[in-house]
Amino acid sequence: MLSKDQNDLITLTGPGTPGGEMMRRYWQPVALSDEVSADAPTPVRLLGEDLVLFRDGAGAPQLIHRFCPHRKVDLSYGRVEDGGLRCIYHGWLLSGDGRCLEQPGEPPESTYKDRIQQTAYPCREAGGLILAYLGPGDPPRLPLFPFFAADLDSQVWTSKLHHDCNWLQAHEGNADPQHISFLHRSFSADQSLLPTRNSFYGADVAPKMEVEETAYGLRIVTARALDGDRNYVRMTHHIMPNVSTFAGLPCVDPAVQPDYENLSYQLHWHVPIDDFQHWKYTLIFRHDGPVDKDFLSNRLFVDMARTHHSPRNADNRYLQDRDEMKSVSFLGIGKNFFDHDKLAVESQGRIMDRSDEHLGATDRPVILMRRQLLRAVADVAAHRDPQFVERQGAPDALADMVVRSQVLPATIDPRSEWWHEPVH
Ligand code: FES
Ligand SMILES: [Fe+2]
Repeated sequence: MLSKDQNDLITLTGPGTPGGEMMRRYWQPVALSDEVSADAPTPVRLLGEDLVLFRDGAGAPQLIHRFCPHRKVDLSYGRVEDGGLRCIYHGWLLSGDGRCLEQPGEPPESTYKDRIQQTAYPCREAGGLILAYLGPGDPPRLPLFPFFAADLDSQVWTSKLHHDCNWLQAHEGNADPQHISFLHRSFSADQSLLPTRNSFYGADVAPKMEVEETAYGLRIVTARALDGDRNYVRMTHHIMPNVSTFAGLPCVDPAVQPDYENLSYQLHWHVPIDDFQHWKYTLIFRHDGPVDKDFLSNRLFVDMARTHHSPRNADNRYLQDRDEMKSVSFLGIGKNFFDHDKLAVESQGRIMDRSDEHLGATDRPVILMRRQLLRAVADVAAHRDPQFVERQGAPDALADMVVRSQVLPATIDPRSEWWHEPVH
């Protein structure tokens, strides 16, 4: 449970808010790479700021405030030319670092343009994402996720899904492994997106959880008892402030390759558009081979890949089917885990009120996550780098992040070093 003030501190991320100051100390995705073409600027909203993203003459992404400094026309209708973005109203030309390069209507000898500075933010492109730093001073190092250095054409699949709610309640769901035993469960393997694992989630609905604080956030080890001798163990992670990783959905067609479990891992990055909606960026990364992009985009995540929106929403009550709930699935809205989570977290309200919740034993990771976020807000207010802001030369905290899920003999302690051993 959080007080109203504490809740505000970690849910509100607009400019000038303590939570917004904290979130601005980290690189955040601002778009998918393929959303921004060479000649068309893209309007984006991030942390409550209206921005426009475009590619300069060299193809590098540039991010500036969306409204022209002259008389506030929307620059996303502008023309990408002459090394910048030209406003369609009177032709002012703005560069990616916010300088005004030309003011065609001003006298030739005027130096007025030299006194114009549009807000501009540094960008990087990696992993199929365009990331931006909206904070003060020098940006930290990009987190050393291995997929930022992987072969984008084959090993990484990236997309995003719109959510009509605050970012934090959705991110909390990633640190809450127990809900899988209910929200995502199908009543038989062939009706599940995860046929091999579906029965594991049903076998033990009160899993044992170990949570450890790490340099990047939290390591959560969840063990479900399958029978007297074996546990199904998952190692998942909360990465400050709004990222999570876990062995997730298949990266290849399970009909072709049923043993997909540790071929890849999945990452969720819950990025505030503003306080009441966010993008859930999803990335699937295979360590040592290709992901099946056709399977992911055209069969598994069709709506997410094509429109970044789900046809299931609160207006149509997520098309919940009571007949389906009798014999097919616990929730009754199909197989797609993303829809399940979206329903659950959007139904908590646009910003969840945490002052009258009733947390239980399985909520310990959520409690620790909130504590880390509150600490990060306090650190920023005290002019310190918050947790997992890494400067050049710092050790790589993510080197210790191993994402894994596996059936193990019950005699193996999940807190032992099993996860560093090869997968069998
Ligand atoms: S409003 Fe943009 S140039 Fe005038
Ligand atoms: Fe979920």
